[in-house]
Amino acid sequence: MKHVIESQQFDKKIINSIFKTADNLSQLKKHPLKNKILASLFYEPSTRTRFSFESAMLKLGGEVITTENAREFSSTAKGETLEDTIRVVNYYADVIVLRHYEKGASARATTVSKIPVINAGDGAGQHPTQALLDLYTIKKEVGKIDGVKIAFVGDLKNGRTVRSLSYLLGKYRKVKIFFVSPKKLRIGDDIKKYLSRHNISYKETEKWDNVLGRIDVLYQTRIQKERFKRPAEYRKYKGTYILTLKETGKMKKGTVIMHPLPRVGEIAPEVDKSPKAVYFKQAKYGLLIRMALLIKLLK
Ligand code: CP
Repeated sequence: MKHVIESQQFDKKIINSIFKTADNLSQLKKHPLKNKILASLFYEPSTRTRFSFESAMLKLGGEVITTENAREFSSTAKGETLEDTIRVVNYYADVIVLRHYEKGASARATTVSKIPVINAGDGAGQHPTQALLDLYTIKKEVGKIDGVKIAFVGDLKNGRTVRSLSYLLGKYRKVKIFFVSPKKLRIGDDIKKYLSRHNISYKETEKWDNVLGRIDVLYQTRIQKERFKRPAEYRKYKGTYILTLKETGKMKKGTVIMHPLPRVGEIAPEVDKSPKAVYFKQAKYGLLIRMALLIKLLK
């Protein structure tokens, strides 16, 4: 594994190996990444991805250099190309964690980078490290991946975490997916074609009433405000699916509620106390998975 760019690049053997490393982090020798430097280059806002990668590197004994608003505070603001920025950061760091507003930006970065590039989200493209931590959460909290029944809810057109996790789930057996979204925000045809090719059963619907009682995982997402050209269009869809204790009560025992976060109203705070709510635990698993990934890339 040289770079981490898209979920399709992982096979089950690599996934299992990453999960095993994450499970066994306590057995690692102290500071395995001493003298290694992580550059986090974020052109879009982030709390979890940036902090968890930076925390992961520090916990492993490495160092971090960072720009959290590269659009404004890196030389991009003066007109430097992404390729030139990546070329130069290659001299200063051992791994680049890149979040960018353009789909395909991380793949572009790999064409000039001699050090590993990790896609930390590229526009409405993918977020593969989120997908790995989501899959790890499913394994830990549901106890299985094969045969899992999952409902993705919200803005499935623009949500890169759903796209990346769908690609990963396509590698497992007897998975059943419900895509719950407004008609205009449906999951892309590329994902549907991929799932069909991999014999994954999926169903699209606008309503979640008939789905809530049939699933192991409810994966709630926000409407992606930043991807809408017109604010009025965003306002039309915001609030379409709000999860409260009423909907949670319709789910069977053992169903877990996930969300990549941030949430902006689509899960009521009252749900936090439900034993089904694992979205904060999910963010915690992100730290373990990102530590495991850094070890795989840099050791
Ligand atoms: N889930 C996720 O990518 O969160 P951030 O945008 O806060 O990194």
